[in-house]
Amino acid sequence: MRIRNCAVIGAGLLLAAGCSHADRQARTAGQHGTLKGRAPATRPPAPAPPPPRKIDCDRVKCVALTFDDGPGEYTTRLLDTLKKNGVRATFFMLGENVGAHRAVVRRMVLDGQEVANHTWSHPDLTTLSSAEVRSQIQRTQKAVKDASGVAPTLVRPPYGSVNKRVERAVGMPLILWSVDTLDWRYRDVARDTRVGVKEPKTGGIVLFHDIHKPSVDSIPKVVDGLRRRGFTFVTVSELLMGRRLVPGESYSERTPPPMQVTASPPPSGPPARPPAGSPTTPASPR
Ligand code: NI
Repeated sequence: MRIRNCAVIGAGLLLAAGCSHADRQARTAGQHGTLKGRAPATRPPAPAPPPPRKIDCDRVKCVALTFDDGPGEYTTRLLDTLKKNGVRATFFMLGENVGAHRAVVRRMVLDGQEVANHTWSHPDLTTLSSAEVRSQIQRTQKAVKDASGVAPTLVRPPYGSVNKRVERAVGMPLILWSVDTLDWRYRDVARDTRVGVKEPKTGGIVLFHDIHKPSVDSIPKVVDGLRRRGFTFVTVSELLMGRRLVPGESYSERTPPPMQVTASPPPSGPPARPPAGSPTTPASPR
């Protein structure tokens, strides 16, 4: 049986044990009932995310900073840094960390940051059954959507570890990286800064972790250095805009656009055959 224990304490605070939402509303109305003749209070409009941007990363020198494994105790400070510098980034979050930082996750969306899925508890997905993989992804989708109002569209597999079966089970585009700062290993602001500024190339995806203090401490200088190099900071979705994103396929950067085929007369004679022993498929980029 449920204990009814809805005491009012102090200046309108409610003792919440056993106290339903309806109870609280009733109490609040009883305390602050509208006075006759006074206009009903109007609520300020709910804050909304900024409109999507259209940045052509084939023409603009784009880079996507990404932050994994949070949200955590340093994430708010990181959001402050990004906002102050007008930087958009992508947060690949663990579902199990979302519940304790719901307001932070909501703020990401309101700040124009991208919220993305890094599984519920960071397992190597190749060691799980397909049903377990789906559970890791779907629970996190729900947690992020509940906290922020936005469901992620991108997944980053922990350790970048995937196989064909995992790709099928995830069923969303998989985002890897072109620069691994190894911030989690060295935990060194100077090193994180140096790597974060020097290594990114146009169209790159840079991997940091916002659960480590030195990583977050390095970001103001990383942003400054990359900006001096002419980079524009975009989310991963912005970076890959205009590219066909296929569920289950992996992406680690924005690749250059396909070569423009110019009209030319058809070659005479049969097409040249490759010499015997030459590879039939191009080498994998990774
Ligand atoms: Ni991770």
